[in-house]
Amino acid sequence: MCGIIGFIGDENVTPIIVKGLRRMEYRGYDSAGLSIRTNEGLRVIKSVGKINDLANVEDLNAISGYTGIGHTRWATHGKVNLENAHPLSSCAGEMSVVHNGIISNFQTLKKELEKEGHTFRSSTDSEVIIHLFEKYFKIGNDIKDAVLKTVNRLEGSFAFAIMLRDGEDIVGARCGTPLILGLGNNGNFLTSDILGFIEYTDKAIFLENKEIVVLGKHHFEISDFEGNLVAKEVTQVAWEFGTPTKEKYSHFTLKEILEQPLALERVISQDQKPIDLFCKKLKTRAKVVITGSGTSYHAGLYAKYVMRETAKISCDVVVSSEFKSQDVDHDTSVLVLSQSGETADALRATQIAKDAGCQVLSIVNVVGSSLARESDISLPLNCGPEVGVAATKSFTSQLALIYIIASRIGIGDDSLITSIPQKVESILGEAERIKKLVNGYTEARDFYYIARSIHIPIALEGALKMKELSYVHAEGMAAGELKHGPLALITQGTPVVVINPTDDSYQETLDNVVELKARGAKVIGISTVSHEVYDDFIPIPKVHPLLSPIIEVVPLQLLAYYAAVKMGQDPDYPRNLAKSVTVN
Ligand code: F6R
Repeated sequence: MCGIIGFIGDENVTPIIVKGLRRMEYRGYDSAGLSIRTNEGLRVIKSVGKINDLANVEDLNAISGYTGIGHTRWATHGKVNLENAHPLSSCAGEMSVVHNGIISNFQTLKKELEKEGHTFRSSTDSEVIIHLFEKYFKIGNDIKDAVLKTVNRLEGSFAFAIMLRDGEDIVGARCGTPLILGLGNNGNFLTSDILGFIEYTDKAIFLENKEIVVLGKHHFEISDFEGNLVAKEVTQVAWEFGTPTKEKYSHFTLKEILEQPLALERVISQDQKPIDLFCKKLKTRAKVVITGSGTSYHAGLYAKYVMRETAKISCDVVVSSEFKSQDVDHDTSVLVLSQSGETADALRATQIAKDAGCQVLSIVNVVGSSLARESDISLPLNCGPEVGVAATKSFTSQLALIYIIASRIGIGDDSLITSIPQKVESILGEAERIKKLVNGYTEARDFYYIARSIHIPIALEGALKMKELSYVHAEGMAAGELKHGPLALITQGTPVVVINPTDDSYQETLDNVVELKARGAKVIGISTVSHEVYDDFIPIPKVHPLLSPIIEVVPLQLLAYYAAVKMGQDPDYPRNLAKSVTVN
């Protein structure tokens, strides 16, 4: 989703802004832009496409200044075009804004501002912010007062940064989407993502909702939306936020799939005391509800099985976008799963849970994220930065940590998991086989993924990976549901991936495969044992049934990755998707 960066300091700001934008590229975007305060006024450069395209618009080396803001846009309101790219300017072009979020009352505000003579140049919701600010600044000539009046007119979610031609400071506000100050020796940053400034400083201040900041070279002032000053703590940002690089790999996605054994080792070997405390807290309420979005939701579905089997806790799992106050009561522990900790749906669910008096526990990869800070207790995944838009290593790490928690609660022993990193390593040895196997499916327009019991979340996750990376339609389902409808879709050569390790559900699933074959399906079997019914087969090692999902998903990630590469898609940045989904 949109990335915001602002810098004010003693160094030329242009390369700092461009570098910051590049680091936030992984969030997903469709256009980019920056505004630099130069001796000749504000210079705004925008382009549709990649950050590198900005250099085709103007020679960025020729633009220097000490204050600047930049933006990567992921379109919500208004098409992907130059007019709608940020920064957006005030009527006379002496103020610029970059915004992340959605202003839900923008139409009313736009009408009012147009009546007053403001000229809008874009079809975005964001543009109302700069015109409102312009209106109030012209009245009082006071940057803080103008931003306070502005934020109190806005409805929806926002994080924004505004800069002026006639004034050094940058002003920003947060309400629902992240905004972070980076305090450096040579200047200060205001960004939506720690990666925007991590190369320059590890000192951060996280703005909370309904806070504004006035930021100078060597000073800052944070207030609430009423204008009262707020004292904040400076956080030392940890090494996990360091600069991720692709190293020798062609894509981040491949690198992250291949580093899963290491990521799992990290999950397993992390500090045990916080995990024990987490387990204790989880049990203090009568009911457990788990929530998350996308891949994190699938991890929640896995958690339901493992909690029931091992911890003897029966949980409800609710996808975050559908989470309602009726799902919980004050005697509920709500477990929120999220890689980024910034997913708007997950944060909204968290707020609903808090308002209902629930205890909120979370498992998050990005330490210091909004979710981690808003939870009563939070455990880190510790799997390192995940840059590829598709969740891979964060998913297997979520499953591993969930298994550890459930086992500690249930039998007080999670030692079985120690063999898993090595088992995952052995599956990665199948990468070449999977790459070749993809050649037999290049014409396929639909893929189906089936499984039973605890393997169903993996069928759903395998299908999600296939659709988001390769853009091929894919559906995951319970194998038993085939005969209730989906079987009608099976014709000669329809690919079906079956996840079928040898456990209690093995034979029943195999029976479903036979039914599929009778209707012409081309079956890829993922199992601990081969069978003649499979057209293609990917072997997986036999492990405890509750741990098997961690193993099973790896070949499915590779299948989707190689399918995407074969079809010429960029697996790191799938179209229309963003790593951190900060709008509802
Ligand atoms: C799929 C994917 C998304 C995310 C979802 C939630 O590969 O990455 O479905 O899982 O947007 O994101 P987090 O886990 O950051 O809350």
